[in-house]
Amino acid sequence: MAKLKVGILISGRGSNMAALIKAAQAADYPAEIACIVSNKADAAGLEIAADAGIPTATVSHRSYPDRESFDRDVSAALGKHGVELVVMAGFMRIFSPWFPQHWAGRLINIHPSLLPSFRGVHVQQQALDAGVRISGCTVHFVIPDLDAGPIIAQAAVPVLAGDTADTLTARILRQEHRLYPQVVRWIGEGRVGASGNGGKVAVEGVPPGATLLFSDEP
Ligand code: GRF
Repeated sequence: MAKLKVGILISGRGSNMAALIKAAQAADYPAEIACIVSNKADAAGLEIAADAGIPTATVSHRSYPDRESFDRDVSAALGKHGVELVVMAGFMRIFSPWFPQHWAGRLINIHPSLLPSFRGVHVQQQALDAGVRISGCTVHFVIPDLDAGPIIAQAAVPVLAGDTADTLTARILRQEHRLYPQVVRWIGEGRVGASGNGGKVAVEGVPPGATLLFSDEP
């Protein structure tokens, strides 16, 4: 069967992108990474992608008078590679409504909190400030409202006494690298769809509870 063509949007380090590239190297992985698009020419992830032989493009938001014209060019860059699923991985631009509407149901993001708690930025610090005992990450479909789209899967980590934003961020990131490739696999296998249950996402044919990962570290 043809593999799902995935385009990844980055702005920086690209560790989630690297985890997806690695996963997609397995022969039985149902998705291939067709291209990487960055809004920053100096994003470290671009070099990782180029080293892996994946086409890259930079679309600098600074060259555009408004968000929608930037969004349309990002979309065109993805379109050149036949992208079917857009995966945001540390992409630090807020879209105009046009982009998530155009890619509706084909655009996902990973966010380093258990949504709907802690939207926006500095979310690990928000979690620490709130005194929560569990945090984690969420993969969700993207809609025009920020960090608000239907949840596909989550991974949970403990918040430990003495945690700083850095230690919590690192613990969550290790789970991001497990969760994101798993979700893209499910999408590539055609298992992920709206359930008709209030817009909630159903993942077909996976064991009950499989869309919630738990950290296996203390
Ligand atoms: C991750 O923490 C992700 O959850 C957030 O941005 C960060 C990107 O890190 N959306 P990386 O570029 O994938 O290393």
